[in-house]
Amino acid sequence: MQTELVKKGMWAVITGASSGIGESMARELGREGVNLILVARRLDRLQILGAELKDKYQIEYQAIDADLSVPQETKRVFERATANGRMIQVLINNAGVGVYGPFMHYDVEQYSKTIQLNVTALTELTYYFVGHMQGHGKTSYISNVGSIASFLSVPYFSVYCATKHFVKEFTQTLNFELRKSNISVTLIAPGGTYSEFTEHSGQILKKSAHASMMSSELVARIGMDGMFKRRRYIVPGFLNSLMVHFPRFLPAKWMLALNDLAMRGAVDYKK
Ligand SMILES: NC(=O)c1ccc[n+]([C@@H]2O[C@H](COP(=O)([O-])OP(=O)(O)OC[C@H]3O[C@@H](n4cnc5c(N)ncnc54)[C@H](OP(=O)(O)O)[C@@H]3O)[C@@H](O)[C@H]2O)c1
Repeated sequence: MQTELVKKGMWAVITGASSGIGESMARELGREGVNLILVARRLDRLQILGAELKDKYQIEYQAIDADLSVPQETKRVFERATANGRMIQVLINNAGVGVYGPFMHYDVEQYSKTIQLNVTALTELTYYFVGHMQGHGKTSYISNVGSIASFLSVPYFSVYCATKHFVKEFTQTLNFELRKSNISVTLIAPGGTYSEFTEHSGQILKKSAHASMMSSELVARIGMDGMFKRRRYIVPGFLNSLMVHFPRFLPAKWMLALNDLAMRGAVDYKK
């Protein structure tokens, strides 16, 4: 007989909780009585969100301002999150950035920061928290937010796509390695989602883009549901879940041309 999971009173760490999908995930978990450690650079937003959820759902929260594109910040976040013997049972590596446009259109520093945040910080936080979760032995969950770009290679989005491919390979491999342990590791791979990502990635959405865009709330709900079901990966949205299988059937060169065509039809980049 399966025992029902008690989420109330658990502690979760969410990176990138100040907007978009991360904020919606915080709302989802808060509603279920999960205590929250909210991480991002905009502390004011984290504090407003934490206070609102505390008031609504009688949960506890802590806001940690951290720029995860700066080396060593992950260690500080881990130490603050686990201070005073606090046991973390959920880690969501959601913070991520990427810029769209010709490779030479952006500074090299932007690419370095993207890799540091999307790859290095995600790996380091997973490392620290897997050790912590193995130590306390309670049922635990890690979600890493990739993208449908984890499965598809999109021209003019080369560095972002490469980081999200890393997230997929890392997450799915670790999922297998830890499958018999107290920790499940899930890849959440959204497609186009309304959030601040469009603005920060230098994208300008064309009319046709809106046909396939999802809300952050829906992506978060599907993601959190799948995470607690210990799924290996989740691709929210029917069209998205279909699209990620295309590379199995088409040659890589065709896929690149197709993705380029589809992306250009849906978005432009800020010149
Ligand atoms: N929106 C989409 O279409 C889409 C599609 C597929 C995958 N995703 C993925 O979904 C995740 C969430 O993105 P979103 O769509 O919700 O975009 P968003 O609204 O721009 O949210 C990004 C979050 O990451 C945080 N962040 C950015 N840089 C950071 C840094 N250096 N250190 C710490 N936190 C940082 C931001 O907070 P601060 O600015 O306050 O630091 C914000 O909370 C990302 O991994 C993204 O790649 C998004």
